[in-house]
Amino acid sequence: MSTPRRQAPSRPTGRAIFLRRALTDQATIGAIAPTSTTLATRQAALIPATAGLRVLELGAGTGAISAAIRPRLGPRAVHVALERDPTLLAAVAGAAPQALRVVGDAAELTAHLAGAGLDEVDVIVSSLPWSNFDPDFARRVLSKVCSALAPSGVFTTIAYRPSRLNPGSRRFRRLLDASFTEVVPTATTWASLPPARLLICRGPRVRR
Ligand SMILES: C[S@@+](CC[C@H](N)C(=O)[O-])C[C@H]1O[C@@H](n2cnc3c(N)ncnc32)[C@H](O)[C@@H]1O
Repeated sequence: MSTPRRQAPSRPTGRAIFLRRALTDQATIGAIAPTSTTLATRQAALIPATAGLRVLELGAGTGAISAAIRPRLGPRAVHVALERDPTLLAAVAGAAPQALRVVGDAAELTAHLAGAGLDEVDVIVSSLPWSNFDPDFARRVLSKVCSALAPSGVFTTIAYRPSRLNPGSRRFRRLLDASFTEVVPTATTWASLPPARLLICRGPRVRR
């Protein structure tokens, strides 16, 4: 009689890894599930297929948006995926092998870009939990975003609904309005958990 073959323990999926981290550190993770494919695809659609485009992703998590960015990239484009949690970022290798994965804090994004040989980028895609950030920290990170963004570049970030009921979201929206000449909200993606829309920002006001 043949002995039953023992199954190798299954590796946790990106979603399971994300949920585990979200349950232990909700304030830093800022969501209970990875970004939905619909929202990630809408966000990545803002990336033009220009050759040599430089894209910075903030809060790459387990790579839902990184994966949507992948088919948008033109020849010689660079995609830097920055995430402070190395366990989450490890999953980005499978989701978006093209991405240059960097473990680090968004507050140090200038140094992380320099490490990748970049002094500015054309598109910054964020799913950072801005409304959970301390106001001074949010201001510091956003000022780095404005400094790193090319003058004709675009910054896009996810805003969870309902934002009007959340003082942190309202404060962040005021900060965006003060930091960019144009802030355009999209329609809500109700299929996301939680439902969310994108804020699309152009014209960075750089304070030196
Ligand atoms: C809502 S989750 C992003 C989810 C990601 N788009 C995905 O689908 O997996 C926010 C992410 O921002 C990261 N994060 C929070 N604060 C950060 C910071 N200061 N610097 C870099 N990453 C940060 C969290 O670790 C988390 O992975």
